[in-house]
Amino acid sequence: MTFGSIRVVQAALGVVVLAGTVACGNDSPMSPSAPTLYDKYGGAATVRKVVDDAVVALLADPIQAPFFAGVGQPGNASPERLKSCLRLQFTAVLGGPATYPGRNDQGDMCRDMTSAHATLAITGPVFDRFITDLAAVLKADGVSDADIAMVAPVLVGLKSSIVTR
Ligand code: HEM
Repeated sequence: MTFGSIRVVQAALGVVVLAGTVACGNDSPMSPSAPTLYDKYGGAATVRKVVDDAVVALLADPIQAPFFAGVGQPGNASPERLKSCLRLQFTAVLGGPATYPGRNDQGDMCRDMTSAHATLAITGPVFDRFITDLAAVLKADGVSDADIAMVAPVLVGLKSSIVTR
């Protein structure tokens, strides 16, 4: 990643903080007549690409990769289950036809964020890094800074369920 693109992501996240500050009422950030971000960016195919790219990015990050070492081990999610649950969740976050937690496209029930991350001892800085990486993936996959700023507060809002240390 170039320093230029880091600045762009930081700028996007700056907007995110602002959006998080103002979007605290009951008003939806999108007007009822606007297409969902899910539809705007190409639906299921785009969600699949974002999730695939996000997992590649997470596993390439020496800080985050160790947290995923148990994926595929007995008692933990398989890589395909993890991706399928992420697809369900991102579909919901982008306003597409899904609710999370719910049943994924493999027919399995996905866990809530507290249950899924309870044993992982994820710290605040690791969570923040995850969000930054995810914002970079969304941007690389064509999502505008303004739209990243719209969805990021939803993900940032999950922090207290995911961070346990
Ligand atoms: C907003 C941030 C995050 C979201 C939306 C998210 C979403 C998810 C989802 C949907 C699952 C699958 C749940 C299931 O199998 O039922 C999951 C599992 C998992 N997540 Fe996250 N996650 C986030 C942050 C993180 C972070 C920061 C880490 C660590 C760096 C992480 C590591 C994991 C691991 C290792 C699993 C598999 C756990 C297992 O198999 O027992 N997640 N996450």
